[in-house]
Amino acid sequence: MSEPLLQFGPEIWTADGPVTSFHGFPYSTRMAVIRLSDGSLFVWSPVALSDPLRSAVEALGPVRHIVSPNALHHLFLLEWQSGFPAARLYATPRLRRKRKDLTVDAELGEAAAPDWADDIDQVVMHGSFALTEVVFYHRTSHTALFADLVQNFSHDWFKGWRGFLARRGGIVAPCPGAPKDWRASFLNRGSARASLDKILA
Ligand SMILES: [Fe+2]
Repeated sequence: MSEPLLQFGPEIWTADGPVTSFHGFPYSTRMAVIRLSDGSLFVWSPVALSDPLRSAVEALGPVRHIVSPNALHHLFLLEWQSGFPAARLYATPRLRRKRKDLTVDAELGEAAAPDWADDIDQVVMHGSFALTEVVFYHRTSHTALFADLVQNFSHDWFKGWRGFLARRGGIVAPCPGAPKDWRASFLNRGSARASLDKILA
């Protein structure tokens, strides 16, 4: 069996979860774990929590922050929250409204939370009426974390008409990027541009 956690860079790991269905499309799932300077773990967009994954994460340090970057990434938050009751859950205001059954400890804002500001920066990608995502940047590994804002599926991941739509949607190699339908929802171009400038900086 493969290792549940893969080291991606210094103090950052990824884990792949089972494929999940989104509007009938099979979506692979991947999370990231960052170990902060104080030794605690920042868990970004958690995938399904298996026993091997739990053991591997616990071996890295205590889970203190469970973070959902947008209102779509919420499927496994509850099991992580139950599994790690000492951790705080951070989510966007929209997810808090959507999942009233979850106890969101803090909403993600324009500035990095003091708990991780030394290690991780964050920018809210504004300007879309459809979806707002918070983009993170881990300084130690020089890694930017995008969830749905930038998608890059292998060429043969989606089959048949789904493959046709995915290629047209601009989320398949060798032409990955922001999905075209989401891109079209950024009607407030000024806000989007300001957020993008911050991300690029
Ligand atoms: Fe996603």
